[in-house]
Amino acid sequence: MQRTYIKDLSGHKTKEVVIKGWVDVARNQGKMAFFDFRDVTGKVQGVVFGKPDVLEVAKELRPEWVVAITGIVNERPEKMVKEGVLNGDIELEITGIEVLNKAETPIFELDKDTREVNEEIRLKYRYLDLRTDRMKNNLIMRDKIITFFRNHMHENGFVEIETPMLMKDTPEGSREYVVPSRKELGTFYALPQSPQQFKQLCMVAGLDRYFQVARCMRDEDLRGDRQPEFTQLDFEMSFVEQEDVLQYTEDMFIKLVKELYPEKTFTEVPFPRMTYAEAMEQYGSDKPDIRKDKENPNELGFLWILDFPMYEETEEVGLQAMHHPFCSVHPDDKEKFMKGEDIFSIRANAYDLVLNGYELSSGSIRIHKEEEQKQVFNLLGIDEETQRKKFGHILDAFTFGAPPHGGFAPGIDRIVMLLQNEPNIREVIAFPKTREAKDPLMNSPAQLSEKQLDELGLKVKK
Ligand code: AMO
Repeated sequence: MQRTYIKDLSGHKTKEVVIKGWVDVARNQGKMAFFDFRDVTGKVQGVVFGKPDVLEVAKELRPEWVVAITGIVNERPEKMVKEGVLNGDIELEITGIEVLNKAETPIFELDKDTREVNEEIRLKYRYLDLRTDRMKNNLIMRDKIITFFRNHMHENGFVEIETPMLMKDTPEGSREYVVPSRKELGTFYALPQSPQQFKQLCMVAGLDRYFQVARCMRDEDLRGDRQPEFTQLDFEMSFVEQEDVLQYTEDMFIKLVKELYPEKTFTEVPFPRMTYAEAMEQYGSDKPDIRKDKENPNELGFLWILDFPMYEETEEVGLQAMHHPFCSVHPDDKEKFMKGEDIFSIRANAYDLVLNGYELSSGSIRIHKEEEQKQVFNLLGIDEETQRKKFGHILDAFTFGAPPHGGFAPGIDRIVMLLQNEPNIREVIAFPKTREAKDPLMNSPAQLSEKQLDELGLKVKK
């Protein structure tokens, strides 16, 4: 018999069906046995009575065993109906049980929220953790959000383009992960921090509107809203100004919330805007939380921050571009920029979208002329030779008719975290790393064998 998904059972009342999934709860009561069964679509109660041969098998069943259950979909007596619960009005009268696989007792309870369970253990047995309702739902909603974005982008003329994972180390801000080359010993690829340069090259290629659900890798210190691997909704548009990118993004987020989270409300629409200078003065932060009621899980406080400084100086890195070195300069600061005067007061055409006190997204209108791009590097103290070596490809591209362009890159993990009211992005990533950037499930990172190291021309320093 064909398998029926548990969510569809109520359409089969009085009929015999087969469901396939896991034993969620098992209760034996002498001549009867009660169960909750679970598949990816939901749960249903099942009961065995008056069938000694079936009861014998039923009594063996333990939670998390994998089963195929044959049964008749019965309506529950009126006083047993559970209102507002999936399958609250039906139960399965079990006529046959096939055990497809047995299971050890799970390391932690799967019918409860695992928030309080030690996270190392949750991650080591992530496949069990993901069986719980909350975690499964987070992944399903993540998929719905990404699908919404993909559709929205396509409806608006964007083309999804895959850019390389193996690229060159070209400092954009964060430390990169590197991959040794076997073909040319002593040389290395870098994994992308973001597809920033490739998306700009797509604009030079005349593709006009690019997007990508893009995996990014950064070797940075981890926090609740940072993972070494994460996903951006990366996009870029040609012949646009800042207002076009802001408007497109704002419309998209409003539509996303209305479609997938209709119970949520906005603190303010249109999203309020303030400059970086205003935010720092008013809130002492470039990502203030503007919600009126911070306890309300359904309030969304979106806020635009505009006119970020082009340059900043930090103790760790020294002088650097605050966003990245490809942002164009605010028209009012062009003269200072070309003269290289008072560089910390130079503003970029760079903007962030903030949600509930988190930086959700960054973007800018880019430089599309070689001279300006070189001047950004000059003021960063990068000499001509290094500019050619690290950025020759983009400087050259700008000499072949690069259109004006700009874009944005909302962080998908952070969006899902905030919409699902989760405290950190690990709760919305299927297989995340620990704060030490480790994966307790596969035990990575791991050592390589002498043979592998040798092939790559590598020697580990003791
Ligand atoms: P930026 O570095 O600001 O910009 O990143 C954009 C967005 O990506 C998310 N994000 C992260 N999410 C999880 N873990 C991390 N380690 C992490 N780092 C960043 C955030 C952030 O707002 N190329 C530019 C974008 C552009 O200019 O178009 C960029 O990557 O939500």
